[in-house]
Amino acid sequence: MGYKGFSDFRSDTVTRPTEEMRKAMYQAEVGDDVLGDDPTVQKLEELAAETVGKEAALFVPSGTMGNTIAIKLGSKEGTEVILEEKCHIYNFEAANMARYAGVMPRPIKSENGQMPLEEIDRNIKTVLREHIPGTSMICLENTHNYWGGAVLPVEYIMQVKAIAMEHNLHLHLDGARVFNASTALNIDVKEITKHFDTIMFCLSKGLCAPVGSILAGSKEFIKKARFVRKSLGGGMRQVGILAAAGIIAIEKMSKRLEQDHIRAKKLAEGIADLKKLKVDLNSVQTNFVMVELEGISSFEFLDELKKEGVLALPFSETRVRFVTHNDIDDRDVEKAVKAIRKILK
Ligand SMILES: Cc1ncc(COP(=O)(O)O)c(C=O)c1O
Repeated sequence: MGYKGFSDFRSDTVTRPTEEMRKAMYQAEVGDDVLGDDPTVQKLEELAAETVGKEAALFVPSGTMGNTIAIKLGSKEGTEVILEEKCHIYNFEAANMARYAGVMPRPIKSENGQMPLEEIDRNIKTVLREHIPGTSMICLENTHNYWGGAVLPVEYIMQVKAIAMEHNLHLHLDGARVFNASTALNIDVKEITKHFDTIMFCLSKGLCAPVGSILAGSKEFIKKARFVRKSLGGGMRQVGILAAAGIIAIEKMSKRLEQDHIRAKKLAEGIADLKKLKVDLNSVQTNFVMVELEGISSFEFLDELKKEGVLALPFSETRVRFVTHNDIDDRDVEKAVKAIRKILK
């Protein structure tokens, strides 16, 4: 049962900490993390670094802060950062790359989160004159939020990496949901993360921790990242209370995401035959279901859906997003299918 008794498909950010997390939080050994004294944070950061195959990791309050620090340190002020046009960093992070890193975004169009390689290549500025900023960084997003939780294949990532290496560019992954990607590809998450210089992933989305994200990279990079985190107001004191939940998020919750993917498929299959909507079953690769409505606006539809006890999010006038997660079970999916069918019959 989700928020106020609703079956809540708005986002995987609505997940609440599990019983095991709550107990671990209560019992967590803590210290002042700004002074480097919190053993639970240290344990989380070591575990996170090892999990994604990097030398070091930093616990940050949010994904936005993790990405902001990565860009601040991975890019160079007055240069361009290449990213996909619909990505989270460019669209939903309060223009932080401009504010804090002093860089220009160079957004590139795609149909599925994968910027065409020739477009990446074409947009890298190497011939510099006084009035042309160079390129310093490329960011990818996996899974891709806007493109319905789409997964970037490893082969694609490797091709982007080759371009980044050729031009000496920093490659960063907004991996807010990177465990959904590795689950969908049925590979160890390192097979994805090893191609990046830095990775941000969220503990507080499908992994159910109440707060927090991880930024991982080289020892030297993370040492500098600690300073930037502090400058952004992200130095936290007895934060082992939160890190304790983060440890369970990585050790346990990252291994159950297939259930969410199966339920998302079930939801999509349960409504795909309806005439008044379109859902592309092939695009349901992880825990998102994007529905394109016909003859009813998203807002009208969501009002009706709410009356049936189901919540989802509008993505545009005609586009609605459903997300499955740990607080959605088979009954919630059945309830949502029944409600959608009733409204659009
Ligand atoms: C792909 C992606 N990156 C980054 C973030 C930012 O995370 P936070 O909300 O913790 O700042 C989100 C949040 O929804 C996201 O979906």
